[in-house]
Amino acid sequence: MKPAMRTITVNLGERSYPIHVGENNLAELGEAMRGAKFGPRVAIVADANVADLYLKPVEGSLRRAGFACEVIVLPAGEEHKNVDSLTAIYDRLIAGRLERGSALVALGGGVVGDVTGFAAATYLRGIAYVQVPTTLLAQVDSSVGGKTAVNHREGKNLIGAFHQPRLVWIDVAALRSLPKRELVAGLAEVIKYGVIADGELFCRLEETLDELLQVNSEILAEVVAASCAIKAGVVEQDERESDVRAVLNFGHTVGHALEAVTRYEKFLHGEAVAIGMVQAAAISVAEGVCDRPSFERIRRLVARAGLPVDLPADVELAELVRHMEVDKKSAAGKIKFVLCEGIGRTRFHALAPSEIAARLAEKAN
Ligand SMILES: NC(=O)c1ccc[n+]([C@@H]2O[C@H](COP(=O)([O-])OP(=O)(O)OC[C@H]3O[C@@H](n4cnc5c(N)ncnc54)[C@H](O)[C@@H]3O)[C@@H](O)[C@H]2O)c1
Ligand SMILES: [Zn+2]
Repeated sequence: MKPAMRTITVNLGERSYPIHVGENNLAELGEAMRGAKFGPRVAIVADANVADLYLKPVEGSLRRAGFACEVIVLPAGEEHKNVDSLTAIYDRLIAGRLERGSALVALGGGVVGDVTGFAAATYLRGIAYVQVPTTLLAQVDSSVGGKTAVNHREGKNLIGAFHQPRLVWIDVAALRSLPKRELVAGLAEVIKYGVIADGELFCRLEETLDELLQVNSEILAEVVAASCAIKAGVVEQDERESDVRAVLNFGHTVGHALEAVTRYEKFLHGEAVAIGMVQAAAISVAEGVCDRPSFERIRRLVARAGLPVDLPADVELAELVRHMEVDKKSAAGKIKFVLCEGIGRTRFHALAPSEIAARLAEKAN
């Protein structure tokens, strides 16, 4: 039986939008978009992998709903989250005469979502876009909140804009075709939501982890919706990350640095974040703000999910910390570090890079 459709609203005044979480609902997207007053021309952007799997139902549904569709297929992979892909999109939008009232549909993972979102933010000074996320990471994180960007050779996400989607349309059944490693990496972000904001979600993950790993749609729909609700709540309070939105960076200070020192080759983002969360929880215990049993629960759940928990032995702490210093979160020589106070609550702590290195070293011994 299909789980009932769940709807979460991101309340941002005139930029508010719904997130619909359902199962096998891609063929209903056109109908949903018809109700949203978009112009008659739309463009679907997908990467080659996702196009093979899901373009047909999405395109068919849009055409049945009366939209004229351009289809833009990008090569898959983070290395294509760049200005060349953007140019390819702009060229097609211009050739297809998409207008101010037109919408883009981002069908895929976070890469397609981020590039398409930025194209929508900038084409004709900004047009609407719809997120149809097909990875777990994109469903619980990148499709919600309006951060859009492409990478520059000097760094990730250096060229971007805040531009909220008009609609987020999630089909958890699409996760069945996702490589297991990508699914598990996405679970790291779900665990993160439990740790930072929702002890009940964390318990639920402990109870249902095996079903989640077997891609049980009912449970997935439940935890994806719970995750989106948490992200929506944070974005509502702080759309442009001036303060509270930074709680979403729990596990990311170490995680981002680890991705960088391993040249984005060794770990998927979620895997690096998994290690980062366990290290941040350990630092929280060392700083006296988190109890040890909570740390143990976090570590155990991350490990049970099949995610890594320890820093690789060959990573040099000095180099890791250097990457944190260049990260945009540093202020006045200290790093704004997100600590957990048990499960479900966080606090910020300004830590000098040398203090972080010392804590990580203690942990390693
Ligand atoms: N905007 C934000 O707030 C935000 C937040 C977090 C991450 N991000 C960005 O998201 C990106 C990572 O996203 P991602 O992890 O989704 O990676 P991705 O978009 O590269 O997708 C991962 C792989 O899975 C494939 N794929 C996607 N859906 C599939 C499906 N249903 N079945 C089979 N294969 C499928 C893709 O083709 C790709 O090869 C990064 O660029 C990151 O910076 C953005
Ligand atoms: Zn993340």
